[in-house]
Amino acid sequence: MYNSNLLLSAALLLSSCSAAPVDQQPLEKDTSAHYPYRYDPYDRKHDTYGDGVQPLPVRNGHGTSVLGPTNKDRDRQNPDLVRPPSTDHGILPNLRWSFSDSHIRIEEGGWTRQTTVRELPASVEIAGVNMRLEPGVIRELHWHKEAEWAYVLKGEVRVTALDTEGGSFIDDLKEGDLWYFPSGHPHSLQGLGENGTEFLLIFDDGNFSEDSTFLLNEWIEHTPKAVVAENFRLPPEIFENIHEKDKYIFQGSIPDSIDKEKPPAFKKSKHQYTHRMLDTPPVEGSGGKARIVDSKNFPISKTIAAGHLDIEPGAMREMHWHPNADEWSYFIKGRARVTIFAAEGNARTFDYMAGDVGIVPRNMGHFIENLSDDEPLEVLEIFRADEFQDFSLFQWMGETPRRLVQDHLFQHDPKSGEKFAKVVEKADKDVIKSQYAKSPGLEAKEYL
Ligand SMILES: *[C@@H]1O[C@H](CO)[C@@H](O)[C@H](O)[C@H]1NC(C)=O
Ligand SMILES: *[C@@H]1O[C@H](CO)[C@@H](O)[C@H](O)[C@H]1NC(C)=O
Ligand SMILES: *[C@@H]1O[C@H](CO)[C@@H](O)[C@H](O)[C@H]1NC(C)=O
Repeated sequence: MYNSNLLLSAALLLSSCSAAPVDQQPLEKDTSAHYPYRYDPYDRKHDTYGDGVQPLPVRNGHGTSVLGPTNKDRDRQNPDLVRPPSTDHGILPNLRWSFSDSHIRIEEGGWTRQTTVRELPASVEIAGVNMRLEPGVIRELHWHKEAEWAYVLKGEVRVTALDTEGGSFIDDLKEGDLWYFPSGHPHSLQGLGENGTEFLLIFDDGNFSEDSTFLLNEWIEHTPKAVVAENFRLPPEIFENIHEKDKYIFQGSIPDSIDKEKPPAFKKSKHQYTHRMLDTPPVEGSGGKARIVDSKNFPISKTIAAGHLDIEPGAMREMHWHPNADEWSYFIKGRARVTIFAAEGNARTFDYMAGDVGIVPRNMGHFIENLSDDEPLEVLEIFRADEFQDFSLFQWMGETPRRLVQDHLFQHDPKSGEKFAKVVEKADKDVIKSQYAKSPGLEAKEYL
């Protein structure tokens, strides 16, 4: 099977990136680093989507081609499902969903789609909604029993809210800003600027449905006119022509500046419902930045904690776990490989790209590795918790008596154990770890 045509297609796949995807043929003898089907006891990552390569269920001399139908686009997006690392084992539920697989509700000047426990059964603690509003387009005044946290993905948006002491809140937000409305607090959202806005909404219950919110117009529709009139101390005729049906998302008029829009009864709320996440001082890792926002620096956000990660070239979010909540991750940019270790010998690897959602159940060990050669990785880690908490494997190893670590991992290879000990010697948490970072005991190249 080792003929010149196959060599040619292997050479093509190494040189071309933007061309049509190449149907991969396994050539075990090709040892080049980018060749996915060589013998690889280390299970290196392969960006088959970025490289335009068709992954095959072939690994270290086992497996074979796909003869029947297969969804080639999805296969390329999920190389670690088609060709899992040899370290994967056992059964884990699905822990990945793409918003691209969610139904879109189309409304006047906007749309919305959701990822809840119904789309992704592991999404028990949190539900997510991706929403778009054109300039002036309003998400109707409403409330709901879940608390709402949000991250602005693009554009500009105005938010309004009322607190329980009658204080009122209005703010204009841009990309990277957050808001949080506690359970039951009434609020509205409106697109601003040239292109309006798009954002990610997070609700602290996976069972949330965007169709089950309390809407202003719907309430009026289902209240006797005489009662509405009495409530507002007006004759009932006043309410004859008001719009009754729910509006949900609809084109409104373009708002003026916040100062000009404040009603005479406006009483400024004592609470801060918004936060500039990207202005939060970052935790610097050797290979990127993490910005953490929870109730410590955004006090109103009692039920949602989050991290915003920028993962640089050749870097990864280090091996870690979260003791206090499931992780609900949302990928903003780039492509990633994540292996989730579930105890009882079980582990499964998933791939994620922009617009995808991942779940890592509480306490399960994992990492986030940048798969792409040309796109930085930008990720949100979101938790139903008041505080962001994680444990770093690296730090744990460094702060455990050396002998204990050696006895566990290097009982039969003390020489390698010495090198390991030097690297973790002054271990601190390195949230995002560069593979090029210097460590006292090793040359940088020894990391690769
Ligand atoms: C609005 O969208 C257009 C078309 O995509 C783009 O060229 C422009 O830069 C956007 N404006 C802003 C303010 O983002
Ligand atoms: C979600 O809500 C539905 C409808 O109210 C209910 O039947 C179901 O048991 C709930 N599921 C969970 C996981 O709470
Ligand atoms: C992602 O990782 C790859 C492989 O380690 C690296 O070559 C690339 O520069 C990274 N991309 C970016 C821009 O983060």
